[in-house]
Amino acid sequence: MRWVVTGSGGMLGYDVADVLRSAGESVGALDRAALDVRDPDACRRALDGADVVVNCAAWTDVDGAESDEGGAFAVNAVGAANVARVSAACGATLVQVSTDYVFAGDVAVPYAVDAALRPGNAYGRTKAAGEWAVAAECPTSYVVRTAWLYGAHGRSFPATMLRLAAARETLDVVDDQVGQPTWTRDLAVFVRDLVAGGAAFGVHHGTASGQTSWCGFARAVFAAAGLDPDRVRATTSDNYPRPAARPAYSVLDNAGRMPGWEDALHRALPSLRA
Ligand SMILES: NC(=O)c1ccc[n+]([C@@H]2O[C@H](COP(=O)([O-])OP(=O)(O)OC[C@H]3O[C@@H](n4cnc5c(N)ncnc54)[C@H](OP(=O)(O)O)[C@@H]3O)[C@@H](O)[C@H]2O)c1
Repeated sequence: MRWVVTGSGGMLGYDVADVLRSAGESVGALDRAALDVRDPDACRRALDGADVVVNCAAWTDVDGAESDEGGAFAVNAVGAANVARVSAACGATLVQVSTDYVFAGDVAVPYAVDAALRPGNAYGRTKAAGEWAVAAECPTSYVVRTAWLYGAHGRSFPATMLRLAAARETLDVVDDQVGQPTWTRDLAVFVRDLVAGGAAFGVHHGTASGQTSWCGFARAVFAAAGLDPDRVRATTSDNYPRPAARPAYSVLDNAGRMPGWEDALHRALPSLRA
């Protein structure tokens, strides 16, 4: 089976390609220089011969999308549609990576896979459009929604916490946003198993089990690193105004399909500190 990973220079794309290679799969890893998903002809050339395409290419600057929604839409919606059209034409299975931000996060229970989309910011709107485009263009597709990703090959929250811990005695971290911190390597395994196991096409939630706030996550990072978690103080989002609205309760119902977030953090930490 020939896998092609787009956006392979990014945090998730790197680990998806690496996990697949480690499992002995044949992988074409295409970073942005090798394939710009906004270019339909380039997609046709680059994806030819793929059995499975994992689209990790995305505009991920959530705040930047507020002032350039067109730019984000070109990658997250039009780019996804280009990849989906070519995947369908060459008979490939497509995995489109999406986000909890397709929901506003103003509810109190986890979102089901079939919950109505209602993004609360520009980035979420462009990713929702990408989901619709993929469903419309490629019947042999998975949409894998994930959230709060961290990994060794990108800007990761745990690494930031450890860096700040070395510089400051105390840290103020928001406690009023709740989600599911998800390790990119666990998500990569989830994607591989989804495809290899012949799961039903459609939407799947690929997030770690359990939930916590950013403050809870930061305290867990401190504790796992042997630091005093009480050095992390709870604060509220009001103290950190951002251009894009953030979901308050951003938990996806994944029916315990992935390992718990604390377990993942302990397994991930050595690679994040390297
Ligand atoms: N990070 C999170 O917390 C999170 C949460 C939920 C969902 N997701 C989703 O997970 C996926 C992977 O995100 P990530 O965290 O790995 O983000 P990332 O590190 O920013 O990776 C995205 C990659 O896409 C590339 N890219 C941007 N525009 C492109 C284009 N026109 N053509 C081809 N490649 C392009 C970027 O290249 P450059 O760096 O050169 O721009 C980057 O390498 C995305 O679909 C994202 O929406 C992420």
